[in-house]
Amino acid sequence: MTGRLEGKIAIVTGAASGIGRAIVERFCVEGAKVLAVDLAEAALRAAHVEGDGLRFVAVDLSDVDAPAKVLAAAQAHFGRLDILINNAGICEYQTIEETTDALWDRTIAVDLTAVFRMSRAAVPMLRQSGQGRIVNTASIMAERPYGGLIAYISAKHGVAGVTKSLAVELGAYGITANYVMPGATVTGITKPLIDQDAALRAAYDDMGVLGRMAQPEEVASAFLFLASDEASFITGHGLAVDGGALLRM
Ligand SMILES: NC(=O)c1ccc[n+]([C@@H]2O[C@H](COP(=O)([O-])OP(=O)(O)OC[C@H]3O[C@@H](n4cnc5c(N)ncnc54)[C@H](O)[C@@H]3O)[C@@H](O)[C@H]2O)c1
Repeated sequence: MTGRLEGKIAIVTGAASGIGRAIVERFCVEGAKVLAVDLAEAALRAAHVEGDGLRFVAVDLSDVDAPAKVLAAAQAHFGRLDILINNAGICEYQTIEETTDALWDRTIAVDLTAVFRMSRAAVPMLRQSGQGRIVNTASIMAERPYGGLIAYISAKHGVAGVTKSLAVELGAYGITANYVMPGATVTGITKPLIDQDAALRAAYDDMGVLGRMAQPEEVASAFLFLASDEASFITGHGLAVDGGALLRM
């Protein structure tokens, strides 16, 4: 089935790598026009081919003026917005005692504050859409934390809270807000770690009942569903795409 996003305009953050890259590819195949957002234009160009239906914006989403730049670009290129995917994220393993203020602040800024600011900035255009969709990337860690990730896990719990608040406040405008909780997925965050550490790869593979990590395309399918008309009555929901990892945690 294709054309599930025919005529839709979407913003996807963290678009140059991993899950975001797969979301962009899937959304384009399904007929959406996409504004792809990431830190560097070179990384976006390495991941995708820009064209009429796919435009790039390079910003650091932790910058306070980034959301205004992104929304202005969506207006300039496409004149509308139907779907906002807040997916960009960073993740660094540190114990609580190793976690510096700088790591805490950076993680919260990128993984949580940017989700709030981007959503707030997008509300006027999503209201005009009449069937706006916000889909945020949390993590299974938003439900069952592991050790060594206090900043990341705090941010991802926050993503769940932000998303539920968005759902409550924006439902009156026909806007739904949901979040996806990926399990261990082979992406730019995890690949450098598992390539160096066979035991970590085995631990990630063993997290779920399917006995393997996810590929980004498998996670992107959940974003497609939640962004599509098929999910018109689903809001405030967290969808695990984890190969059954939460069953075991
Ligand atoms: N990979 C996993 O196992 C896993 C599991 C659960 C949740 N997630 C979440 O999935 C999302 C996507 O991560 P991924 O695994 O695809 O990693 P990735 O590193 O492959 O992709 C993340 C992208 O976000 C971009 N980015 C980071 N900081 C940014 C900033 N300040 N401004 C703009 N762009 C920025 C990066 O440049 C990169 O292209 C993240 O929110 C991550 O927390 C990943």
